[in-house]
Amino acid sequence: MWRYPRILAHRGGGTLAPENTFAGLKRGMEFGFRAVEFDVMLARDGVPVVMHDPYLGRTVSGAGHVFDYDALELARMDAGSWFGADYRGEPVPLFVEFAQYCKANGIWMNIELKPARGFDRETGETVARITRAMFADQIAAGELDRVPLLSSFSLASLEAAVNAAPELPRAFLMSELPPGWEPLARSIDAVAIHTNHRHLTLALARAVRDAGFGLFCYTVNEPARARELLDWGVEAFCTDRIDLIGPNMA
Ligand code: G3P
Ligand code: MG
Repeated sequence: MWRYPRILAHRGGGTLAPENTFAGLKRGMEFGFRAVEFDVMLARDGVPVVMHDPYLGRTVSGAGHVFDYDALELARMDAGSWFGADYRGEPVPLFVEFAQYCKANGIWMNIELKPARGFDRETGETVARITRAMFADQIAAGELDRVPLLSSFSLASLEAAVNAAPELPRAFLMSELPPGWEPLARSIDAVAIHTNHRHLTLALARAVRDAGFGLFCYTVNEPARARELLDWGVEAFCTDRIDLIGPNMA
């Protein structure tokens, strides 16, 4: 079912560093995390960058959409000042460099495909292709527990990932499981369901696991709730509070 680490730092280093930055990864490592969730979308030139919002302004100084800029332009922008003066100049990471850093440091990745509107297929195809090339040796050796897991709210992105790199595992990400969740997840041959813990019930958790899928929740920030979800059979989750919930809690 779930062959991966069970507790992940959300968006790099949760809320202890600017999200989706190298500083976040380093903060996560300080707290013992070697597993991370982060968001990826395409810049104007089709090069993937690590970003959550499809527009600038909240975490990156500036204005406009991510797809208004080439990746190297974004990489020169400030993705740290919003969080604190100590992080001024922290760049928007290029996905390739971010993933290489994770691989080199033994950090397992849940890569969330976060397409800007209208770029679903391109995002899934590009990120899957790059990830497969980066992990070709692990795939060939059958070391599948070290290969990143691709997840997305976008079915089109996941379908494109299936076509581009069928060997990579995929998870269907749904805020709330709709009635037809199971055939949807099977349509992209998902290994896991990722869902918002706020909408999860014990009955749903059992249904997901009985159907043979792994079950992952986002974003769990209270230790008591984390314990409850684990008791329900939730196999893994990501957290913003890497200071309160350790990587070995499960
Ligand atoms: O991948 C789980 C979670 O990150 C999904 O929501 O908005 O934080 O990317 P969001
Ligand atoms: Mg995410």
